[in-house]
Amino acid sequence: MNPGPRSNFRPAPAHVLVTGGAGFIGSHTVDLLLAHGCRVTVLDNLSTGYAANLAQCEGRPDYDFVEADITQDFAPALERAARRFGPIERIAHFAAQTAVPLSVDDPITDISVNVAGTVRVLEYARRHKVRKIAFASSSAIYDDDATVPVSEASTARPASPYGIDKLAVEFYLDYYARYHGLAFTALRFMNVYGPRQDPSSYYSGVISIFMDRAFANQPITIFDDGEQTRDFVYVSDVADAVVTAALTDAGNGAIINIGTGIEVSVNEITRTILELTGSRSPVRHEAPRPGDIRRSVTTMNRAKELLGFDPKVDLREGLSRTLAWVRQQALVAARRGSAA
Ligand code: UD1
Repeated sequence: MNPGPRSNFRPAPAHVLVTGGAGFIGSHTVDLLLAHGCRVTVLDNLSTGYAANLAQCEGRPDYDFVEADITQDFAPALERAARRFGPIERIAHFAAQTAVPLSVDDPITDISVNVAGTVRVLEYARRHKVRKIAFASSSAIYDDDATVPVSEASTARPASPYGIDKLAVEFYLDYYARYHGLAFTALRFMNVYGPRQDPSSYYSGVISIFMDRAFANQPITIFDDGEQTRDFVYVSDVADAVVTAALTDAGNGAIINIGTGIEVSVNEITRTILELTGSRSPVRHEAPRPGDIRRSVTTMNRAKELLGFDPKVDLREGLSRTLAWVRQQALVAARRGSAA
């Protein structure tokens, strides 16, 4: 079912729609698509994304931004971009309600954005004869009790409405591929980190929170004993996988885990962040967070075989780059403060 990757790896530039392109992973994908010579249209409602994540694209002749919502009829809003760049040929779909705990509190909103909104995107793709869609799925679809490392064959048994929605979309993708000829690749991301990840919420990724706190010498809270593990993958490596999947036939019809295959504990992450930042942040422990899984790490075979995926940025390097970004953000904020 899946074509061998090698012959299909050379991405040909196309007009690509990036939904959620103002978000963390989406904006890095936009940068990479533009670097590949694509024309890129971003569709984002700026609910959790930031225009600042795309400031570097403003004014480019190969880039357009459309403020619209996937839960509404967004097709008319895309007409200008289609006139400008030609029909949309490929889609990278990130737009979503991304906080797992929020999906538990409000599953109705979750399903209306993550499932119904996504089906609108798929309908757009069907009507406009889009060739392929790369979908941001999640390792949240796996059974909490699955033995690690998880592979794509591990049992899918989501512990949250968010995971159920992502899994449901994978079934929709299969349906649209079989009955409407829309090619897809679903990428199940492990724990993604890097610059532009927003640290400001209780639901933010652990690295973004700890980096932010360490930088400000504020207390760091580790839930549980800190020996729980995750597979942390740097955002530009993830964007690389998305771009390969979106622009080529590699991984057509496939579901692929995207991580590093390296299992790292929260304690280890904490030590490295404190060392890199030279921080004096006190570290305290709190009770385990409800719903947390104990261990998480992926196998790498399928990503390697189908996408040639080979993460380039190791954890230390990724954390250093993230720290450089945090420093730069602090400088910008300080300048803005002194200008006011
Ligand atoms: C993350 C993703 C989720 C994705 C899942 C897939 C984020 C925000 N969430 O969830 O979208 O579906 O991976 O595997 O990226 N922790 C602390 N202190 C804190 C915050 C977190 O100790 O202040 C711990 C948590 O208890 C957990 C670990 O860090 O054990 C990772 O937490 P988090 O970054 O929120 O990610 P996941 O829950 O793994």
